[in-house]
Amino acid sequence: MSEMNAEGHSRLDQRPEWNALTKHREELGEVHLRELFAEDPQRAGRLTLTVGDLHVDYSKHLVTDETLRLLRELAASAGVAELRDAMFRGEKINTTEDRAVLHTALRAPESAVIRTDGENVVPAVHAVLLKMQVFTDRVRSGDWKGHTGKPIKNVVNIGIGGSDLGPAMAYEALRAYTARDMTFRFVSNVDGADLHEAVRDLDPAETLFIVASKTFTTIETITNATSARNWLLTGLGAGEEAVAKHFVALSTNEEKVTEFGIDPTNMFEFWDWVGGRYSYDSAIGLSLMLAIGPDHFREMLAGFHLVDEHFRCAPPEENVPLLLGLLGVWYGNFHGAQSHAVLPYSHYLSKFAAYLQQLDMESNGKSVDREGNPVNWQTGPVVWGTPGTNGQHAYYQLIHQGTKLIPADFIGFAKPVEDLAPGLVAQHDLLMANLFAQGQALAFGKTAEEVAAEGVPAELVPHKTFRGNHPTTTILASELTPSVLGQLIALYEHKVFVQGAIWNIDSFDQWGVELGKVLAKRVEPALTGGAEVPGLDASTAALVARYRELRGR
Ligand code: F6P
Repeated sequence: MSEMNAEGHSRLDQRPEWNALTKHREELGEVHLRELFAEDPQRAGRLTLTVGDLHVDYSKHLVTDETLRLLRELAASAGVAELRDAMFRGEKINTTEDRAVLHTALRAPESAVIRTDGENVVPAVHAVLLKMQVFTDRVRSGDWKGHTGKPIKNVVNIGIGGSDLGPAMAYEALRAYTARDMTFRFVSNVDGADLHEAVRDLDPAETLFIVASKTFTTIETITNATSARNWLLTGLGAGEEAVAKHFVALSTNEEKVTEFGIDPTNMFEFWDWVGGRYSYDSAIGLSLMLAIGPDHFREMLAGFHLVDEHFRCAPPEENVPLLLGLLGVWYGNFHGAQSHAVLPYSHYLSKFAAYLQQLDMESNGKSVDREGNPVNWQTGPVVWGTPGTNGQHAYYQLIHQGTKLIPADFIGFAKPVEDLAPGLVAQHDLLMANLFAQGQALAFGKTAEEVAAEGVPAELVPHKTFRGNHPTTTILASELTPSVLGQLIALYEHKVFVQGAIWNIDSFDQWGVELGKVLAKRVEPALTGGAEVPGLDASTAALVARYRELRGR
């Protein structure tokens, strides 16, 4: 195993900065947040940062100033800033795929110059944005007509992974900004039920399909798109000529788009330097632009850009993505935490955790470093969560009183979209009271003495005691606008980047999804045609046989 990585740094767990953190962790022991707050009345104010519209309180973390200093030193020794600058410059930091990583160029202003392979990519980005805008205006105004002359009322995005989760999440998040007289649906699963349920009540004459696939070879997407084409042509009683008015493509692969039968003039392009899970602010966001309109889409891009600039320029002490990344490293590598909960107190963010799962787990779910050596340290956490307050009545019990350390992010907004106020209780205040109360309960808990002082019988005291000391970040913004959504997503993108840089893994490839795809292709003929699949293991062969029996094959 190599002692040095490509940059000549020693391996992460052999660095003095890593050892200093191990030692510091031992010294801190089980220090309680109650003590940390009691020692420093200014803690809440001191450990709060602002980026754009996001107010980020990290005071309820198991850290001292020394912890933060040591973590920043680890980041410096791991070359996080250098890798960040290389990413922004368009260098090919995705080494296993030999690609630049330039999602930040998707939201750069038109005047920016960002080169990769000697070419400034910004003009092409803005040309595609303009093409999306012109198309969006035509569809939303009714100028774009379907095959029978009817305007488009329904938009169905067909894609999977990064070609689905981003637009689907953002559509939910920004529902208040959407054209409410149109219907938007997102189909991803190769389970035909997904497409069937999405189109069963739609009029094909008023329906536009957006086939979103970077590669245009993803089996789920191509299968769903083919079924959608059949549904459309059967429903319209029309031939192939109807496809042009009802199908557009978002892709990097013009050849495959044309082969599928979509006119390349109806293709919105993006590039191989945009990773799938970093792509919803590219052409992949067309369904979202159709929903919220070009101006709101551009506001969202400006929100992304604001946080990009903060990440690029803010000093380490004030750099929020750096800080959040380092806190994750602190818990994963020095406290043994295995998962990270994301708990938005906004129903509009119902798909936020699912989106972050791909962003984080597909990026940092790696076990070899950039040089191909096995890593000795934990990499990406399991990311999960649902909007508050639903989780409180489901799994929060485990976070409060279980045996696991689960760092969590609370996300909330001061202003609701609709301030429903039945009787005397404003619903939004009630929602936010829950967010604040949960952060408080998780941090400070309730001691056995406090429980006993309430007259609780001795045998019940242990059951009603809350240890507390569960670390959380609280992100508060005024309201969930397109810009704020862009800011939030960029914040998490760069947090993931920081962690990948520290762990010395390639956060921009995803080889781990390949094996399953290959095997599915190999198994499929055995399910349908009765062909024998050579080399099937005994368990899988028996399951296939049972499946065939159940299907009468
Ligand atoms: O799951 C693997 C993956 O390549 C993701 O990274 C990507 O977002 C998804 O499949 C869809 O890929 P495509 O956009 O090429 O259809």
